[in-house]
Amino acid sequence: MHVIAPSILSANFARLGEEVVNVIAAGADWIHFDVMDNHYVPNLTIGPLVCEAIRPLTSAPIDVHLMVKPVDRIIPDFARAGANIITFHPEASEHVDRTLALIHESGCQAGLVFNPATPLHHMEHVMDKLDIVLLMSVNPGFGGQKFIPSTLAKLQAARARIDAHQREGGRRIRLEVDGGVKVDNIAEVARAGADAFVAGSAVFGAASDSDANRYDTVIAALRRQLEQA
Ligand code: DX5
Ligand code: ZN
Repeated sequence: MHVIAPSILSANFARLGEEVVNVIAAGADWIHFDVMDNHYVPNLTIGPLVCEAIRPLTSAPIDVHLMVKPVDRIIPDFARAGANIITFHPEASEHVDRTLALIHESGCQAGLVFNPATPLHHMEHVMDKLDIVLLMSVNPGFGGQKFIPSTLAKLQAARARIDAHQREGGRRIRLEVDGGVKVDNIAEVARAGADAFVAGSAVFGAASDSDANRYDTVIAALRRQLEQA
């Protein structure tokens, strides 16, 4: 029930295919795919072509985190490139409800991403259209930042809303967290209510190029912490 989603932002891009294969073989559940446009966030990363290139290498879900503005134009491209989950920031879409519908029409699961300062009320009138809620525990744009502690209280609040929605007969919504998640804080993050965990530098920073099996060690350590939580 706990999903570990390594962010390939911290992978070795010169050997990206191998990195994807190795991290899934090491026990990861999803591939977290960070898309940045040097406009909505101050960094530039990867797009649908790269998604299409890694798609044949794994059957694991590809979790596309869009940090781009606008969002609608690029969504069908990612769906065609093999994305399974597409999340976006409400500030980056003029019509949040329409964007969620577009993701579903494209055949993917849909979710909203909340920056550290973005209030949770953005989810209020679209709960029935969400498969996933992603709380940023760092400001988006870079890997390797420090977990912002106030995210724990925000996770509890999001968990309460999601559980209430489900009790009222609503759909099951995953609660994902992204930024600064490590072996030493993942248990606390899980206790606050998260059930999907992005980890970039914690996973890919753990191995030197010659030692890809270190991914097993760190993913097993993350899972052990989750079992104890
Ligand atoms: C930040 C990205 C994250 C990032 C996480 O904008 O959305 O997915 O790669 O990296 P770590 O785990 O190193 O904070
Ligand atoms: Zn991300």
